[in-house]
Amino acid sequence: MSQKIQTLSGYINEYQRSVHQPEKFWGRIAQSFHWQKPWDNVLSWDFKGPDIKWFENAKLNLTENIFERHLFTHGEKAAIIWEPNDPKEAHRIISYRELFEMTCQFSNALEAQGVEKGDRVIIYMPMIPEAAVAMLACARIGAVHSVVFAGFSSSALADRINDCEAKIVLTSDGNFRGSKNIPVKEVVDEALEKTSTVEKVIVCKRTNSEVTMKSTRDVWWHDVIKGQSIDHKAVTLDAEDLLFILYTSGSTGKPKGVVHTTGGYMVYTQYSFLNVFQYEQDDVYWCTADIGWITGHSYIVYGPLLAGATTLMFEGVPTYPHAGRFWEIIDKYKVNQFYTAPTAIRALQAKGLEPIAPYSLDSLKVIGSVGEPINEEAWHWYHDHIGKGNCPLVDTWWQTETGGIMISPLAGITPNKPAHASLPLPGIQPVIVDAEGNELKGNNVEGNLCIKFPWPSILRTTYGDHKRFKETYFSTYPGMYFTGDGAKRDHDGYLRILGRVDDVINVSGHRMGTAEVENAINEHPRVIESAVVGYPHDIKGQGIYAYAICDREGVSDQVLIEEIKGTVRKIIGPIAKPDEVQIVNGLPKTRSGKIMRRILRKVASKDISNLGDTSTLLNPEVIAEIIDGSPSD
Ligand code: PRX
Repeated sequence: MSQKIQTLSGYINEYQRSVHQPEKFWGRIAQSFHWQKPWDNVLSWDFKGPDIKWFENAKLNLTENIFERHLFTHGEKAAIIWEPNDPKEAHRIISYRELFEMTCQFSNALEAQGVEKGDRVIIYMPMIPEAAVAMLACARIGAVHSVVFAGFSSSALADRINDCEAKIVLTSDGNFRGSKNIPVKEVVDEALEKTSTVEKVIVCKRTNSEVTMKSTRDVWWHDVIKGQSIDHKAVTLDAEDLLFILYTSGSTGKPKGVVHTTGGYMVYTQYSFLNVFQYEQDDVYWCTADIGWITGHSYIVYGPLLAGATTLMFEGVPTYPHAGRFWEIIDKYKVNQFYTAPTAIRALQAKGLEPIAPYSLDSLKVIGSVGEPINEEAWHWYHDHIGKGNCPLVDTWWQTETGGIMISPLAGITPNKPAHASLPLPGIQPVIVDAEGNELKGNNVEGNLCIKFPWPSILRTTYGDHKRFKETYFSTYPGMYFTGDGAKRDHDGYLRILGRVDDVINVSGHRMGTAEVENAINEHPRVIESAVVGYPHDIKGQGIYAYAICDREGVSDQVLIEEIKGTVRKIIGPIAKPDEVQIVNGLPKTRSGKIMRRILRKVASKDISNLGDTSTLLNPEVIAEIIDGSPSD
């Protein structure tokens, strides 16, 4: 626990050390881990290549740092508390020793199925402990996992399988979410019709739903672990060997595979977890994310387990079977740190105070927020009614690409300021730049957020496409990592994140690329052209608004709109379904043929009093038509 900062002056000192002597700083932090062979060099980097290596030539296995490192001190401590979707079903408490045995056994099973170091394994599973076991077993044998959120459609799943040429898929016979039982095995079967690399599908029994098993390909989880030993010798990995790939949306093209490697990610997730949440030995920590997202990777599984914490995993949704479910769970397990997303907070805020009333919530010490900017109203509601006014609220800014929390208060140490992610963690050097890339020093400045020095859990590449990696993150402002976010440094030097400045929409904390949604819409046979923008949404933060030019002959707009929504749902998944679709005759375009999205954003946001300069438009007449046709409520 020596990595933990205790005071504000301690934070300031650590921060200064981390900036002036980063290698010495991270070398010291990394020493508390178990390395089979130490590094030759803490860091070598070049943001032009780009080429970034942390703990060069060190050898390790991350899971030895979860299990072998901790078992003597807390083998019987709860590693995972699992709360099922249906509160009437039994919960599970899995100790570190048991989790270790499950991981070893599944590691042996994966190897017996032919999975080797470096092979890619897709995990398309519900929020059950076996999903965490699957991730850990991959890490133990050196296979590269790629978790796909189980709400993605078969074609989104197929795209990911194809991109990483996965050898094996892990799934379940069904997925309970609220009152639904989602037939995920069918989705996998459909996806595999469009792929050719997968040799085996391992199916974990969860819902006891009837599924079709393809005899040469599909095997049951409980069958593959049968007879496998609960001992397993961890495979030796290089610090820069791939740990996982996680697909995320950007402003162009298909989702890209963000690559994280072993050593740096391990060091940073444990360090950031301990410091941001100020976790103490007997605490129960709960992050409500899904393991399909980076938050689930870093702060349900890796960070907490590396720190020897008790991490709660919840299978269900916040409103099932009632709107007080989160609060009931907090009281049931005496949760000390609670970490959720603004969209969940706003949705629960809308239910009023009644669902909270039966619960004391007095175990809470720290509450956290992640995924999107938290508006002041939601911040105060969360702080006052859930934190009861006396829990520090950590508004944590970070990204799939950053691997861990970058800018955040340290709970109880950094003074809280509503809706401000506040200050960078030690080792993180954020800068605000203007459009030309000049650093805006000092306070009271606003611009684009970049990071000018590497940190241990920075992504290393985008899978199979290093050029795209360079173009996406290091070309806008050469020599710096560009986050895609706008930010403001206020008069106190505190940072406030303003949201994306590129064509990425943040819907309920999930990233959607406008181009990706447009491509899906364009699959509808009657769609000629489309444009998608984000607009402010009371609960989701941003909603998806689509404009489509269609062949309207013989079909009503209402039917077209529903069909377009259905097409997106089928091609990407329910999270990408547009909230609004407007059928239009034309889209505002510049003389060079570029869609003027600025105008579309304003119309979607019902902010039409000043549309700005439209003199470069080729077809200004479409604007009035679009305004007339937009929903009036
Ligand atoms: O726009 C920022 C927003 O979420 C984006 C990253 O999304 P993703 O890679 O899916 O990771 C989400 C969970 C780490 C960022 O570029 N974002 C994330 N956290 C915050 C945030 N915006 C404002 N405040 C935050 N605390």
